[in-house]
Amino acid sequence: MRRIPFLTPRLPEPSVVARDYREICETGVFTNSGPFEGRFAAELARWIGRDVEVAVTANATVGIQLACKTLFHRDRRLVPVASFTAAAVPLALIWSGFEPVLIDIEPKTWQPDLRMAERFLQREVDNVAGILLTSTFGTANAAIDAWETLATRYGVPLVIDSAAGFASEYSWGEPLGGRGDCEIFSFHATKTMAIGEGGAVVSRDHGFIRQINQLKNFGFDDYRRSWGLGQNGKLPELASAMGIRQLEVFKDRLTKRQEVLRWYITELEPLGCAFQSDGSLGVPAFVSVALPSQRHREELRMKLDEVEVGWRAYFNPPIHGHPAFAELQRAGDLAVTDDLCGRIISLPLDDWLTQADVGRIVSAVGCVVGH
Ligand SMILES: Cc1ncc(COP(=O)(O)O)c(C=O)c1O
Repeated sequence: MRRIPFLTPRLPEPSVVARDYREICETGVFTNSGPFEGRFAAELARWIGRDVEVAVTANATVGIQLACKTLFHRDRRLVPVASFTAAAVPLALIWSGFEPVLIDIEPKTWQPDLRMAERFLQREVDNVAGILLTSTFGTANAAIDAWETLATRYGVPLVIDSAAGFASEYSWGEPLGGRGDCEIFSFHATKTMAIGEGGAVVSRDHGFIRQINQLKNFGFDDYRRSWGLGQNGKLPELASAMGIRQLEVFKDRLTKRQEVLRWYITELEPLGCAFQSDGSLGVPAFVSVALPSQRHREELRMKLDEVEVGWRAYFNPPIHGHPAFAELQRAGDLAVTDDLCGRIISLPLDDWLTQADVGRIVSAVGCVVGH
């Protein structure tokens, strides 16, 4: 029986990138806003449309830090953010001098709880620096208009962390990337759009993107004078070249992955498993399924080990379950997050999974949930 790994990074073929690497060696420009970086940023912007501009960065974490530091109110500290997310998110806020305040998620969408955020803003408006809205598993948030309205009403910036969401779409066909004051993507090796390490800050405000491009290069202006709290967040030329190569084949890869995702949904929903609503519009690197109970999850973990299928349980623990974040303030009860974290399991979603592979995984789930 072939082992099905949880996730296999899909990066460009070595022979394809070898030509780019030779060109980079010939020009001698390895980093510092070279030609590959410029092309990669322009092609990402073209993909998203909506007149956005893009600053590529060394990873998404540094993109979040630079964006929040630039946009959020400097004389305030609190930032509401979902607990159902990756550790990178509160870490980026804390490194930028802000204090994350944890909010719950909504039961069907698994997206941050809009009403809890609004109640928190009502109570604490004078202390809120901005909102960091995470797009759970990179899925577009159907309530994005309401989040933008909320941020405007309370006069706070809205930064959207769509780390896993490059190429995801809203149900009305708009690509993710053009909302809020800015949006951030990750191109880490484990993302569908992967280059090893890398990220992008996207905005319709071209002046802001120029600022991010300066800040990621120690805050230097054209005369190499440092003007702001910059850092080294640049993306090397080879990584940019890999990104360009990824985009060349990305549409075909997405079609295949969305087909695999549909197989899972069709087979597992009738067994009582729940998926994130609108999740099928995303391009996740794995498929997340809520089982009927925590007992089912524990049994499935053992069953998957037995049939040699890799799994994880994202995001378990949630942020408030990590020792480093146990003391963070909570804006309210995190009951939906706790319940989902107890039942969720993340399953393989690779480009080349066959229907028989998915059938093997579905049978394991069927054994456990009693069908
Ligand atoms: C929601 C979210 N934000 C930020 C990050 C950080 O991305 P990067 O690894 O590119 O810094 C991740 C990484 O998995 C993530 O899931």
